[in-house]
Amino acid sequence: MFGRIDHIGVAVEDLDESIRLYRESFAMAEQHRETVEAFNVEAVLLEVGEGHVELLQPLSPEGAVGRFLEQHGPGIHHVAYQTDDIDGALRAVREAGLRLIDEEPRRGIRNSRVAFLHPKSTGGVLTELVEPAH
Ligand code: CO
Repeated sequence: MFGRIDHIGVAVEDLDESIRLYRESFAMAEQHRETVEAFNVEAVLLEVGEGHVELLQPLSPEGAVGRFLEQHGPGIHHVAYQTDDIDGALRAVREAGLRLIDEEPRRGIRNSRVAFLHPKSTGGVLTELVEPAH
């Protein structure tokens, strides 16, 4: 169902400070930066092999990442699996009885199609499915 891990999502309070940390400590280059209004975040993708770390800074305290930061502080927010067929993957996990946050895919960073599964049905791990733009 999944090709590989696409990215790990990390909630941060200060995007520029976090970019500097990853660049200076791990030599990870910034590959892409985008404001994703639908998710109320400014997001940066850092390159690591074929995968990414996705740094997420909330645009305002409302929204999922803002609430996460308030409750937990900065840290790992979600794991994202890559699929070539997000509609089929969503159907499969729905049939497997998992609870979905997104019943239909939404537009994510870099024109990908994404959908989140509820952490209550995935062992406490907020899980994102990603179908990259072709
Ligand atoms: Co993500």
